Amino acid sequence: MSDNAPTAARPQWTPELAEQYTDLSAKLEQLVPCLEVPLHLPWIDAINRLKRERGAKIMAHSYQSPEIFHGVADVTGDSLALAQAAADCDADLIVLCGVHFMAESAKILAPGKTVLIPDLEAGCSLASSITADDVRALRVQHPGVPVVSYVNTSAAVKAESDACCTSANAVQVVDAVATEFGMGKVIFLPDRYLGAWVATQTDVELVLWHGQCEVHEKFTAMEARHTRERFDAKIVAHPECPPEVLAEADFVGSTSAMGQWLAKEKPQRVAMITECSMADNLRDRFPQVEFIKPCNLCPHMKRITLQNIHACLRDLKHEVHVPEDVAVRARRALERMLAVGRRERV
Ligand code: 13P
Ligand code: SF4
Repeated sequence: MSDNAPTAARPQWTPELAEQYTDLSAKLEQLVPCLEVPLHLPWIDAINRLKRERGAKIMAHSYQSPEIFHGVADVTGDSLALAQAAADCDADLIVLCGVHFMAESAKILAPGKTVLIPDLEAGCSLASSITADDVRALRVQHPGVPVVSYVNTSAAVKAESDACCTSANAVQVVDAVATEFGMGKVIFLPDRYLGAWVATQTDVELVLWHGQCEVHEKFTAMEARHTRERFDAKIVAHPECPPEVLAEADFVGSTSAMGQWLAKEKPQRVAMITECSMADNLRDRFPQVEFIKPCNLCPHMKRITLQNIHACLRDLKHEVHVPEDVAVRARRALERMLAVGRRERV
């Protein structure tokens, strides 16, 4: 059976299924077009049954669609939360619903587990913007300067780095690494916009790379301004956006910090300047907040579907492997990140 199974082989909707999943249906009807819910439920049920049979844990990033995030995931969160969950996971089988670098990080942090990703082509424009050779060349240009890599990099790039960070702890990791290495300068890669934002939050001098997130780079200051003026909405932006967009924001923060900010500030209306599914997935937590969606979809995150998650669990594909010599060095960088953990400045 292929990932997109023919109609006859598809799990079918039944009235019993609707009854079994009353609460989930009610939730999803608020988050996706309600006509889609009867199409999703049979897949959700089939995945949940397979998951139990296999003893698997499904981990889903906050940019996954609501039917995945709410329907089948055991663990949800930002890339730091997923890395922490993989390191602590008690199941032998992990299905990572996110992009490839997240599945690689899970494998590096849980080397004894089988890590599967439903679509091996789920990449990331940041991860593909830099190679291990590029990092070695940067080290030659800046002798003795430590390297901090965003987790949105390949395992090979992580292996050349002193520490990793996510957007949730980039400032804290830069400060910790500068102190540990006794240097006032750090090479920060690959996101030039996240790097430029981190530079405004620390006294450490940063050497930046020219990578960009193809989703966040598309937002403009004019859109953000228009949204605030037209809809009287608070503007919350991810630090992967260009600086002129961040300058328009009421709050700049990582995926997790955005949720914390909403919990604290309880705005009446908010525009999330980030990946589209974030607003959908937060809407359930904050029913009193009206979300305006200036939406950009991540085409890589959206490669993951209920259908290919089902195929992944059914056929135990696609397994993520990281060569041992690369994994050993990349693990050191990821463990430095986990030691800093999540110390948000909200
Ligand atoms: P987080 O580190 O906030 O989870 O973001 C990952 C990502 O891909 C952002 O575009
Ligand atoms: Fe990469 Fe941007 Fe997609 Fe995140 S949203 S996975 S940074 S391309």
